[in-house]
Amino acid sequence: MARQERLLRQLLILWVIVYSVSSTSQCGTDEFQFDTLCCQLCPSGTHLFKPCQENHGMSKCIPCESGFFMNHNNSESSCFRCSLCRDDQEEVAKCFQNADRECQCKQGTYCNSENCVERCLPCSSCPNNKVIRQCNATMDTLCDLSDSESGNPSDPESRMPCFHCVCLSESLKAVVTTAAIIIIIAAFIAASIALGFCVYKLRSRCRDPQPSTGPSAGSPVEESKSFQQVNEVMMV
Ligand SMILES: *[C@@H]1O[C@H](CO)[C@@H](O)[C@H](O)[C@H]1NC(C)=O
Ligand SMILES: *[C@@H]1O[C@H](CO)[C@@H](O)[C@H](O)[C@H]1NC(C)=O
Repeated sequence: MARQERLLRQLLILWVIVYSVSSTSQCGTDEFQFDTLCCQLCPSGTHLFKPCQENHGMSKCIPCESGFFMNHNNSESSCFRCSLCRDDQEEVAKCFQNADRECQCKQGTYCNSENCVERCLPCSSCPNNKVIRQCNATMDTLCDLSDSESGNPSDPESRMPCFHCVCLSESLKAVVTTAAIIIIIAAFIAASIALGFCVYKLRSRCRDPQPSTGPSAGSPVEESKSFQQVNEVMMV
């Protein structure tokens, strides 16, 4: 019995811990945590003045002052200051309590970086006025340059046939050069080997003339023969 009681007590403690953790950390999506309470967020166009006094209660919110905005549900202590348009931009939407001012490049200029961090650039004009898409505040003019140089207007690839030719001839040149170098080196090696072989042959021939000349002219046999003849003559 005592063991069961102890187990029950342990389970109860565990449940209390789990409940307290989950109840303090699990506020709704439109709520924020304030001490141990879940308070409702302030709607856009307002900011938090005083958090709620009871769990899931309404917070005290006050509207953004003039020149400030808040564009989402929040628990911020103040609204954001409205951004200003640069001198190369024009205002396209006023600043409201719930939305910032919107600016874009002035007519005839564009800026294609995200949030237009660079200055606005003048729109390009197309040769022969062949425009595919007019310039707007975020994109430059798109020109049709297809037949300005080559004779094929429909194929955009044909705009740079020379580029392809250059690429091809460059690679071809490299291949030919490499092949030429290899051939020259191979020829040099072959010539060296042949020359070395010839020199070796010549030297060995000078050192030992026996193999080519047999026992013919001026041989010791013949010499002794003639010597015998001389002896015979002298005897007579
Ligand atoms: C903002 O809060 C309101 C209620 O105050 C709710 O109806 C709305 O869906 C919330 N908006 C977002 C984006 O959570
Ligand atoms: C400019 O034109 C592009 C392509 O048509 C479009 O996606 C973009 O929204 C336009 N920008 C403006 C500010 O109208």
